Amino acid sequence: MGFKALCFGLLCVSFLSYIYTPMPDNIEETWKVMALDAIAKTCNLVATLCDIIGLMKYEDVLVILASVHFTKAVSDENITVIDTDFSDIPVRLYLPKRKPERQRPAVIFIHGGAFVLGSYKIAAYDDLNRWTANKLDAVVVGIDYRLAPQYPFPAALEDCVHVIKFFLQKNILANYRVDPTRICIMGDSSGGALAATVTQLLQNDPSFRGRIKAQALMYPGLQLLDTLLPSHQEYQHGPILTREMLIKLVCLYVTEDKVLPQAALRNEHMPTESRHLFKFVNWSDFLPEKYKKNYVYTEPVLGKLNASYPVLVDSRLCPLIVNDTQLQSLPLTYIVTCEHDLLRDDSLIYISRLRNVGVKVTHEHIEKGIHGALSFTRAPVFLNLGLKIRDKYINWLEENL
Ligand SMILES: *[C@@H]1O[C@H](CO)[C@@H](O)[C@H](O)[C@H]1NC(C)=O
Ligand SMILES: *[C@@H]1O[C@H](CO)[C@@H](O)[C@H](O)[C@H]1NC(C)=O
Ligand SMILES: *[C@@H]1O[C@H](CO)[C@@H](O)[C@H](O)[C@H]1NC(C)=O
Ligand SMILES: *[C@@H]1O[C@H](CO)[C@@H](O)[C@H](O)[C@H]1NC(C)=O
Repeated sequence: MGFKALCFGLLCVSFLSYIYTPMPDNIEETWKVMALDAIAKTCNLVATLCDIIGLMKYEDVLVILASVHFTKAVSDENITVIDTDFSDIPVRLYLPKRKPERQRPAVIFIHGGAFVLGSYKIAAYDDLNRWTANKLDAVVVGIDYRLAPQYPFPAALEDCVHVIKFFLQKNILANYRVDPTRICIMGDSSGGALAATVTQLLQNDPSFRGRIKAQALMYPGLQLLDTLLPSHQEYQHGPILTREMLIKLVCLYVTEDKVLPQAALRNEHMPTESRHLFKFVNWSDFLPEKYKKNYVYTEPVLGKLNASYPVLVDSRLCPLIVNDTQLQSLPLTYIVTCEHDLLRDDSLIYISRLRNVGVKVTHEHIEKGIHGALSFTRAPVFLNLGLKIRDKYINWLEENL
């Protein structure tokens, strides 16, 4: 009892100390964002402490905390919601009940969570997918791919590819009355990385080229080569997502070895033979001037890490490092970036590169946005920002899918 009270007291103190973290001036709903930021940082602290005292692993604590918001598959008056499997991988389907006037579009949803956390079951995602299905009269497919570190790279990607290839079969599409020419792949954060990668793989596969009409990437993280882009520096302490949390979690998709995140924090994790890939993530070349601010480009420090992780140079981990030839054939693209987000510049570089090779990109930059906004549309903390981004995205789909 005394121990529990002590823990609770410590949590309150840590929450209160975090809540006074100064926020950027032009953030909307400042108090709510401060509370969310303090919650995220307190969770991170609890997870770190549990790990240090050997009670539970860092990531396992976060997995448990994230699962508090899981929902069951519950149908409503408009949408039938079913949990099932495609190719032995769990999926949640949202099928509109109204009589179809014609074949329906489909949206394939890949959730975020740094490859380690999350599920389509999270209440805010369930709301979003239900809303998408109802507004667009679309079939929505959420994918629960396997998570790291139990299943490292490329498990998550392979699961997404399997589900999508299964869904794209003629008889399956016909079964759900889906129009094969109106399919979009969407993902947020690390789910955006998976969505971007799957889209690249399908477009560069002769038997699937042209099958995806559009991709929608919501504040995605797209590379691990350079962890000191201007946005990584400017927003290293959040709000919500800190550079340390991000690197700690994402590295688990590569290895459980602690050497990698330590080196990545110093930006000294890439091997010598990766030098030729840095031209694809060179913010000095690709970042629009207004985002460069006063940051100075420094050349990468390579070969410091003797342990070698071949995965780090794999474009299936970092979709930003494919060459222009592989970008050229990409479909219509929608990208949301948030200003107050350490992943902002990954997307800004991708947008420049896509536009350079003639891919049609709609870019929505949310000046007052924060990372993960789409996930904060439910109690205890409800951000209008999340709903605003959702509505912009749905409008784009209505016009383009
Ligand atoms: C069903 O759809 C109608 C029309 O879009 C909407 O007004 C209503 O709120 C929806 N019901 C639910 C449970 O979402
Ligand atoms: C990045 O771009 C800058 C400016 O164009 C250039 O000086 C530098 O050599 C580039 N570095 C790499 C690794 O491509
Ligand atoms: C890496 O290997 C080189 C040569 O094998 C050695 O000189 C260097 O000290 C090693 N670095 C680390 C960080 O272990
Ligand atoms: C681009 O990358 C692909 C796959 O790695 C390769 O086959 C192709 O030759 C490359 N194209 C150029 C122009 O480098």
